[in-house]
Amino acid sequence: MSKKITISFSKSAKPKGGLAVLLSAKDGQTSEAANELDPAGVTGRAMEIAGFDGKARATVDVLAPQDCPTDRIGLLGLGDPAEVSENDWVRLGGSIFALIRKSKKIWVFADVPGVETSGQHIADLALGILLRSYSFDTYKTRKKDNDKKGEAGPVSITIVTTHSAAAKRHFAVSKAVASGVELARDLVNEPPNVLGPVEFAKKASDLEALGVDVEILTEKEMKKLKMGALLGVAQGAARPARLAIMQWKGGKAKQKPLAFIGKGVVFDSGGISLKPGAGMEDMKGDMGGAAAVIGLMHTLAARKAKANVVALIGLVENMPDGNAQRPGDIVTSMSGQTIEIINTDAEGRLVLADALWYCQDRFKPQFMINLATLTGAILVALGQQHAGLFSNDDALSEQLSSAGGVTQEKVWRMPLGPEYDKMIDSKFADMKNVGGRFAGSITAGQFLQRFVNDTPWAHLDVAGTAMNAPQTDINRSWGSGFGVRLLDQLVKANYEG
Ligand code: BES
Ligand code: ZN
Ligand code: ZN
Repeated sequence: MSKKITISFSKSAKPKGGLAVLLSAKDGQTSEAANELDPAGVTGRAMEIAGFDGKARATVDVLAPQDCPTDRIGLLGLGDPAEVSENDWVRLGGSIFALIRKSKKIWVFADVPGVETSGQHIADLALGILLRSYSFDTYKTRKKDNDKKGEAGPVSITIVTTHSAAAKRHFAVSKAVASGVELARDLVNEPPNVLGPVEFAKKASDLEALGVDVEILTEKEMKKLKMGALLGVAQGAARPARLAIMQWKGGKAKQKPLAFIGKGVVFDSGGISLKPGAGMEDMKGDMGGAAAVIGLMHTLAARKAKANVVALIGLVENMPDGNAQRPGDIVTSMSGQTIEIINTDAEGRLVLADALWYCQDRFKPQFMINLATLTGAILVALGQQHAGLFSNDDALSEQLSSAGGVTQEKVWRMPLGPEYDKMIDSKFADMKNVGGRFAGSITAGQFLQRFVNDTPWAHLDVAGTAMNAPQTDINRSWGSGFGVRLLDQLVKANYEG
């Protein structure tokens, strides 16, 4: 987080200095508790002059005259009270953050006559503020100098609402969610020289502080398990591979775990099938799936989710080298199936092949969901607005789609089928690692499906959504943390209690 923000909730407040934010319905109605903030009626004039009509997320920023208790008054539109939906509140929170600028003390008047609110809505508002406030400036030394001069400083926000007690309760959970998203964003944003497989595995181990059991498999241990597909990718890199296994046991002892698996390619040069130079720096984000999985485990543990969850991340670096894997090589995966390497840049599926197989073999989970920045082709198909969803299970797909509707991390189901599966049959081995020019995201999905056995499974291709993310009301970061809230919502809505 760039700014240090503390958020509290209160039934009433006497603001002084700083900024008062008034949520405002389309008809100009604002909280009655805020009446005395504007004795001269400047906000009314400002609304008129600025043409503010209370449209959802529209804002007006007013410099308050001297007889007002606060320095500034900000107006934030809620839209038509009848149309404010459950899922709008997080985004509205993001817009509140945008109004803050240099103010250090902020009061948000959230109750508007005619607009239905709840403690959950208010906590969502606070979550939106936290998510929007994230920025990654670890390596900006000049910015740090400014911070020392007090420009960043701590910011305190009081949300004034009749639902303060319930909001406070729900906000404890929101904070766990925000810190999981923040962790995932940090990991994606970190440069690849700093975050190799070993350092990444250490981030998994750090979750032990929250009560997560963590095991880290070394290359030697993976060799013993015959993970030839994962290890083949790693063999060209100077930095050794790791497989991190995290377990959160918040459910009943006998309950089969939910499983999440992440692609953690800390840097994808393409290997011997080297990528073009332009934009290659973006491939530091090729661990966006693994980052989301760690972020999710952080959130689940921090909010003490009542579910048994296991998470695996395959951590490798894909590099060209005298010892690197070649096109034409045939590797044997842990499942026993052999794979002909056609293109060393299709490495994510090789890493996941062994992680998925190991996961179902050892944990017998209720389902497996993997996240991976797997194909450029998913960007061609869906752009950055939806993650690709591939699954052998309609019920699980439905659950993911509706969780995405709630958190606005949207997924779009893509087809799988034997006619696509055929495209990865190989002349020399059981399969090849690419299926040709067409349907690249689907053949990648078919490849993964060959390693899930009969476990209900879903694959999220997040190449378009985890990194280089579009700027939104709640995200200004290159690494978006896509998937953390989605999967937390999936667990919350379907697998707890
Ligand atoms: N990591 C890439 C996919 C990717 C592309 C992620 C753009 C994020 C943004 C993956 O390992 C890859 O290189 N895939 C190849 C597959 C091809 C060789 C069949 C691709 O998409 O070009
Ligand atoms: Zn690649
Ligand atoms: Zn990759």
